[in-house]
Amino acid sequence: MATGTQGRAPRRASVVDVARLAQVSVGTVSNVLNRPDHVASATRDRVLAAIEELQFVRNASARQLRAGTLQSIGVVLLDIANPFFTAVARGIEDRLALDEYTLMLSSSDEKPEREARYLRLFEEHGVQGVMVTPSSAASLETLLVVRERGIDTVLLDATSPLDGLSSVAVDDVRGGALAVEHLVAMGHTRIAFLNGPLGIRQCADRREGVLAALAAAGLDPGEALVELTIPTLNAEGGALGAERLMSRGSDGAPITATFCVNDFTALGALRALRRAGVSIPRDMAVVGYDDVDFAPALMVPLTSVRQPTHKLGFTAADLLLRHRTEGSDYVHQQIQFQPELVVRTSSDPSVVAG
Ligand code: RIB
Repeated sequence: MATGTQGRAPRRASVVDVARLAQVSVGTVSNVLNRPDHVASATRDRVLAAIEELQFVRNASARQLRAGTLQSIGVVLLDIANPFFTAVARGIEDRLALDEYTLMLSSSDEKPEREARYLRLFEEHGVQGVMVTPSSAASLETLLVVRERGIDTVLLDATSPLDGLSSVAVDDVRGGALAVEHLVAMGHTRIAFLNGPLGIRQCADRREGVLAALAAAGLDPGEALVELTIPTLNAEGGALGAERLMSRGSDGAPITATFCVNDFTALGALRALRRAGVSIPRDMAVVGYDDVDFAPALMVPLTSVRQPTHKLGFTAADLLLRHRTEGSDYVHQQIQFQPELVVRTSSDPSVVAG
C-alpha cells in the first residue's frame, strides 16, 4: 500500500533532530555551529558526528538574518508563467544582483487575497523591500500598510496615485491605441477585442486606448468593436475567447481583426483560430501586446505592442535600491515608458520576416 511519504523528498533534518541524537540542547548545537570554542571538545565531537550522520544543513537565511546580512527583495507579479513577467523579473534580478540582493518571486494570479498573503510571507522572511504589480485597486491599501511598517515599496507595471510611492509603468492607453490605429490603417472596420477584467489596470487602460483610436478614426465603437472578456490572461483564456468569437452568430459586418490584451492570450487565440481553419491574416488579422520572445517565432509571426520589459524591471529595482541607500534624500518618482508597435505577418501579409 502506498504510504503518504512515497515520492516526496525526505524531511530535511532539523537542529532539534541533531540535538536529540547528540543528547544535548538546541542551544549547544547552535554553539557548536557559531561558537565552537565555547563547547567542550567531547560534546562538540558528539554534535558534529550527529550533524554528519543526519546530513544536517543549517538554514543560511536564518543565520544571515540573525547576522543582519541577508538582503532580499520580495516581488509579487500577476503571473510568472506569462513570458512578459519572466522578462521583467530578469530585469529586476540583473539590477538586484549588482548590490548582492536576492529575489523572492511570486504570482498573485490577479487575486488580492493571494497578493496580501505573499506580502505577509515576505515580511515574515524579513525582506528589505517589495515590488508589486497590483492585482486590484485594493492592493494600494495593503501596500501602504506594508510601507508604514518600514518596508520600502515600489509599484511595478502600475502607476502610483501617491507622490510618496514610486512606480514604473508603460503607457497602456497609448499601447491600446497603437494596436487599433494599425488595424484601422490596414482597412479593418470591425474589430474584436479579447480583454481581461477591467479591474486589472492594464486591461482598463488598453481598452481606453482602443476607444480613443476608434473615435479618432470616426468609428462608432457600438458598430466597430466587439468586446469579449476572458477570465484569464493566458493561452487558455485566449483560446476560450477565440472559440466564443467564432461561435457568435452573424450580427452585422464580418469581424476581420482581433486585438488580444497580451501575447500570452494571442498565443491561445491563434491556436484556436488555426484549429478552426481560419487563415491568419487573410481571414482574421491578429495583434497581441508585450512583444515577448515567442512573438516573432510563431508560425505566423505576431504583430505586437512592444513593452520595454527588461528596462521596466531593472528601473523599478533601481528605484527601490536607491530609496534604501539615499534615505531622506530620495525623491519618489512615477516613471512611465512608451510602447511601440512591431508589425509582423499576423496583421500585415506584406511583412514576411519574423
Ligand atoms: O498581466 C497582464 C498583462 O499586463 C501582461 O501580459 C503585460 O502586458 C502586463 O502589462
